[in-house]
Amino acid sequence: MGPMLISSWETREGVRFLRRIGIRRGQAVMDFGCRVGRYSIPAALAVGEEGVVYAVDKDADALRELGERAGSLGLRNIRLLHITPGRRLDVRSESVDAALLYDVLHYMDQNGRRRVYMEMRRILRASGLLSVYPKHVSTDEPADHFRSLSVDDVRREIERSGFVFQARLCGTLSHDEGLNQGCVLNFGKREEASR
Ligand SMILES: C[S@@+](CC[C@H](N)C(=O)[O-])C[C@H]1O[C@@H](n2cnc3c(N)ncnc32)[C@H](O)[C@@H]1O
Repeated sequence: MGPMLISSWETREGVRFLRRIGIRRGQAVMDFGCRVGRYSIPAALAVGEEGVVYAVDKDADALRELGERAGSLGLRNIRLLHITPGRRLDVRSESVDAALLYDVLHYMDQNGRRRVYMEMRRILRASGLLSVYPKHVSTDEPADHFRSLSVDDVRREIERSGFVFQARLCGTLSHDEGLNQGCVLNFGKREEASR
């Protein structure tokens, strides 16, 4: 089987959605738990050649597929980062403008999620954006560690991890191989002194 095709959502609606959440040309974006890059590809198009996307996953096959898909579009601004869960990322502190945690947090228990929030706090600039798609919570195809959590529970645990809730943005979002209606939550970094 060859690499999965690029969908028009990835090159059009997805780019517009990421602009709506605040992603701009020239920025550095991290897509944590990127799989085959349904959000990494629109992010790479949104930031343009002067920007960079760090596409992070523990699944080497998914990253390889993302590499092939990005290559077929001629994108050269996606850095593939294969990681072991729990390890520190090979990305400089305060160097990233936006981090995406889309449809990935339900894979982790509370301690695992806490470690990821701390790592996102480390890599994000002071003005950085953390954007979260809390899929698979109790009211939305409940699964894994999110089965009994609500969106508000997830929002509160992120706020307790050093972030300030900013906005909820809804639209047509990529999910697995299809599309669905959903909402992402945007957070800013809380200043150290006011924690
Ligand atoms: C359901 S997919 C979501 C992919 C993508 N964010 C999207 O919304 O299309 C979740 C991905 O997160 C990855 N993942 C889960 N836990 C992880 C961890 N602790 N570190 C890195 N990747 C992880 C999985 O390997 C999988 O590729």
